[in-house]
Amino acid sequence: MKKDCLSLKDLNRDEILSLIDKASDIKNRLKNGEDYKPLNGAILGMIFEKSSTRTRLSFESGMKRLGGDAIFLSSRDIQLGRGETIEDSARVISRYVDIIMIRTFEHSRIINFAQYSSVPVINALTDLLHPCQVLSDLMTIKEHFGKLDNLKIAFIGDGNNMANSWIYAAAILGLHLSVATPVDLSPSGVVVKEAMEIAQKTSAKIELTQIPYEAAVNADVIYTDVWASMGQEEQTLKKHSLLKHYQVNRELVKDANRDYIFMHCLPAHRQEEVAADIIDSEHSVVWDEAENRTYAQLAVIMKLLGRD
Ligand code: CP
Ligand code: NVA
Repeated sequence: MKKDCLSLKDLNRDEILSLIDKASDIKNRLKNGEDYKPLNGAILGMIFEKSSTRTRLSFESGMKRLGGDAIFLSSRDIQLGRGETIEDSARVISRYVDIIMIRTFEHSRIINFAQYSSVPVINALTDLLHPCQVLSDLMTIKEHFGKLDNLKIAFIGDGNNMANSWIYAAAILGLHLSVATPVDLSPSGVVVKEAMEIAQKTSAKIELTQIPYEAAVNADVIYTDVWASMGQEEQTLKKHSLLKHYQVNRELVKDANRDYIFMHCLPAHRQEEVAADIIDSEHSVVWDEAENRTYAQLAVIMKLLGRD
């Protein structure tokens, strides 16, 4: 039966760790200029119902680098955007390509699509989750600290798709994650409930707080994301008002670990969720995170296509 990658929840600890190792192996091979073409002949269909810079480029260039190809499908240009159903679109598109990634709105849309697709489907961001980003982030943390365990990871800001994805990752991998959000912008209750159940078995320490300092103190990783995600533009004013004390700035990080790293999935809004002198400081690893998207996603694609 074909497999999909819609949520980190579908993977166990060993599978996530082996994807990170695979991603590093792909990175090394490409950096060394090796002629490495494990995706020879494979075609990725890329459906975007929302904007993207990193996701489109990392998937498309990654496929080409490993010998495959990619087809960009904006919902503005395909019949899906004119009312062809998700089910019919999935049945049809999967007849032309070997694997599909989708960026869409409600998470139920991707679940529905995957059910009707005859080829593997990858979540390239939904309103609920952004698993490819967290795989790349985990890879970046491991590259930087040489480990994932015994680190305190702080997520500060909106309880959005990135926060939810981090909560699953921490639960499955047994990490220490502290999430600071206003109560009205808490992460998904369903995700938190499921993650807390997983955490009991993995000894993950997941803390939810409304006090950004509590998350930031002694943190090794400080993560934030935009205050108004794609599709939430009309909530911008309300969110900015709720989040105004959640900006990652010098005052907030003053008691973080001396060698903390700053992370952000990007795109960033300087002077909103993060002060310019933090994202542009020597603590920031945001460009590595962006680059590592390519390798993390290629590892996922190779696994789903059985080419690993
Ligand atoms: N981080 C991320 O997914 O960026 P894009 O929206 O540019 O793809
Ligand atoms: N939370 C953001 C992430 C962008 C990569 C959004 O959904 O817009």
